[in-house]
Amino acid sequence: MMFNADLARQIAFEDVPRDEARYFEGRATEIENFKHSLSASTRRDQAVFRIYQGAPGCGKTSLAAHLAKTTEDAVFIKLSRRHLTHFASMMERIRNAASKQGGRYALTATHWAAASIERLAGRALTEEIQKAVRDHSTEGLRFVLHVDEAHSLPNNALEVLTELHIGGLGETDQIPCVVVLTGLAHTKRNLNAHPGLTRAGDGTTMNMTAMGPEECVQSTTRMLAELCPSDAPLASRQTLAHLTAECSFGWPRHLLSTQKAVCEALLEANGNLQALNHKQIRERCAELRAEYYEERLEDINPPGGDPDLTKHIVAQIAKAPPRHSYRDLEALCSSQAKAYWQSDEEFSGEGTRQELIENGIVERKDGVWALSIPSMAAWATQQLR
Ligand SMILES: Nc1ncnc2c1ncn2[C@@H]1O[C@H](COP(=O)(O)OP(=O)(O)OP(=O)(O)O)[C@@H](O)[C@H]1O
Ligand SMILES: [Mg+2]
Repeated sequence: MMFNADLARQIAFEDVPRDEARYFEGRATEIENFKHSLSASTRRDQAVFRIYQGAPGCGKTSLAAHLAKTTEDAVFIKLSRRHLTHFASMMERIRNAASKQGGRYALTATHWAAASIERLAGRALTEEIQKAVRDHSTEGLRFVLHVDEAHSLPNNALEVLTELHIGGLGETDQIPCVVVLTGLAHTKRNLNAHPGLTRAGDGTTMNMTAMGPEECVQSTTRMLAELCPSDAPLASRQTLAHLTAECSFGWPRHLLSTQKAVCEALLEANGNLQALNHKQIRERCAELRAEYYEERLEDINPPGGDPDLTKHIVAQIAKAPPRHSYRDLEALCSSQAKAYWQSDEEFSGEGTRQELIENGIVERKDGVWALSIPSMAAWATQQLR
C-alpha cells in the first residue's frame, strides 16, 4: 500500500469540524449508559433524559454522533434550538428528518410524526395519513432526540423539554423516547434551574473527562494504518501513536490537533514514517494547543479588556483555585485586574466571572473553581514568564 496523501491532506487541513471523530475510541461507560436508557425508555411514558456534560473539547458532540451512527434500533434525530421553539415545530423537524433517513423504522416514524402534527393542530387525520399509520405499525418504534450545546438553551426550548420530561413524546400513543443532552459542565445545573426540569438528569448525568492514553494510542494507530505503507515498521508507528497520546494529554480536542500535526509532518516527508522529526511534531502540537486555548479565551472580557489579563486570571486560578462561590471567583478577577493595571480603582469581576463559567473555562470541582481543561494550567502559567 502506498502513502495515502489525499487522506493526510484531509486530516491536516480540514477546518470544518466534523461531528464524529474520524477515529473514535473509548467512551465505553457513556455508551453503556446510553444503551441502558434505550431499554428504560420502553418501560415508561415520559422521555428518558441523559445528560453528557464536560469541558470544551472533551468529546461530547463526537460521542453523540457516534451513538447516532451505531444505534440501529431507534430513529436518531438531531435537534437544534431553532427546532425547539414549540412542541409542534419539534414534531415537524422529527417528520422531516425521519423522512430523509434509511433504516427499519424511518418510514413508520415519518407517518407517526405526520399524524401527531395533525392531532396537535386539532385537525382530523386525512384518509391518506390514516392509511399510512395503519400500514406502519409503531411496534418497536423508538426515538432518540439529541440536543447539543444544551448548557445555554433559551426558555422556549426548556419548555419543550419540560413537556417531554413530564408527558413524553406522544399524546395517546406513547412512543419510547430518549433525550440526549450534551453541553458544557454546567448543563445539568442550568436545566434544573428551569421549574419543570428540577429533577432532569438526576442519577443519569455523566461528567465526561479525558480519554485514557491507550485509547488515544489506538485512535492514532488506526489513522496510521490507513495512511501509511503497510511495510512501514511497526515500531515507528507505535512510537508515533504514543507520541500523540502524550502530546494530547488524553484530551480529545488535542488528540485531533496531534493527529493533524502528524499528517502535516507525513506530507512533508512523503509518507516516510522513519524520516519524521519527533521534536518538530511536539513543537507543532504545542503550537496547536496554544491556538486552541487562545481561541477559547477570545470570548472572555476581563476588566479593562486586555486579553493578556485573562491569561493572568487563568494562571492565578490554576495556581490558587478560589473557593467555589461566585464571590470568591469575582474577587480573584478584580484583584488580578487591580494588580495588572497597577491601579487603586476597584474593578468589578462579575462580568468576567460569568463569562469564565458560561464559556466553560472554569468549573466547580471538589469545592473550588478549577480550570475545566486541565492541561490549560501549564500553558497559562508559561504565558506569564
Ligand atoms: N472518542 C473519541 N475518540 C477519538 N477522538 C475523539 C473522540 N472524541 C472526540 N475526539 C476528537 O476531539 C475533537 C473534539 O471533540 P468534540 O467536538 O466532540 O468535543 P466537544 O466536547 O463537543 O467540544 P465543544 O465543547 O467545543 O463543543 C473531535 O473533532 C475529534 O477529532
Ligand atoms: Mg461540541
